[in-house]
Amino acid sequence: MQVVQTIPALRAALAQARAAGRTIGFVPTMGCLHAGHLALLTRARQEATFNVVSIFVNPTQFGPNEDFSRYPRTFEADRTACESAGADLIFAPTPADFYPQGAATWVDVEGLSTGLCGEFRPGHFRGVATVVAMLFNAVQADVAVFGQKDLQQLAVIRRMVRDLHFPVRIIAHETIRESNGVAMSSRNRYLAAEDLQRATAIPAALAEARRLVAAGETEAARIRDAALACLTKEPALRPQYVAVVDQETMAPVTQVTPGRCALAIACHLGNTRLIDNTVL
Ligand code: PAF
Repeated sequence: MQVVQTIPALRAALAQARAAGRTIGFVPTMGCLHAGHLALLTRARQEATFNVVSIFVNPTQFGPNEDFSRYPRTFEADRTACESAGADLIFAPTPADFYPQGAATWVDVEGLSTGLCGEFRPGHFRGVATVVAMLFNAVQADVAVFGQKDLQQLAVIRRMVRDLHFPVRIIAHETIRESNGVAMSSRNRYLAAEDLQRATAIPAALAEARRLVAAGETEAARIRDAALACLTKEPALRPQYVAVVDQETMAPVTQVTPGRCALAIACHLGNTRLIDNTVL
């Protein structure tokens, strides 16, 4: 497994792989890898024969009062995990390597980026779309795999790929969960064991919403209220939003069309912000 930091070194390695007839798979990450990321890599390996993981804590997707500076950076452990999970190359640029000085170009996916997380994290999806566009240009992968836990991010990236004709196939991978049902996230590291237990109210709320839909409920307001009631049973959780949305447009719906809609949740637990969702 190679580790490269600069775009010229990345391009040289990729040119060699291409010349050897390999197809390129790509898993973009911010590091602090867990089993969820490794599942994305395993999926990429089913699709492509040379697989790249990027590790880059992207400054432009964090707001001024967010956790950019304390975001866990665990490069050595990440390198070992990538190696054992069969990555061929890690691309780990520094912000100074990756963002040219005076960079002034942004990718803004309008509409999709403004609700849900976008409402509470202004500029977040502009930072995500911009860095993912830059990464796509750098890696030129045939296929890229993203986790469904970040449902709005996935919708933003799919739209960007469609609108800007990026020649990459996007694959969504189901959310990987801790044994107690909480969605895996690098930010779970911020949680003490008892908080990780408190966070189980989130998958419980998602399960309740699924149960209602399976029982024939289609009124989004009722499904949302039932999910919120589950969340508020855990007083330590402070819900930021609970929304029933169309998975493609991220727009709130009033009636659920099974298979097309999702329930999306964001909560604070202490200083940690957790998100999760389920297809309904
Ligand atoms: O999902 C993430 O880890 C990040 O948002 C991504 C896609 C790597 C862009 O920085």
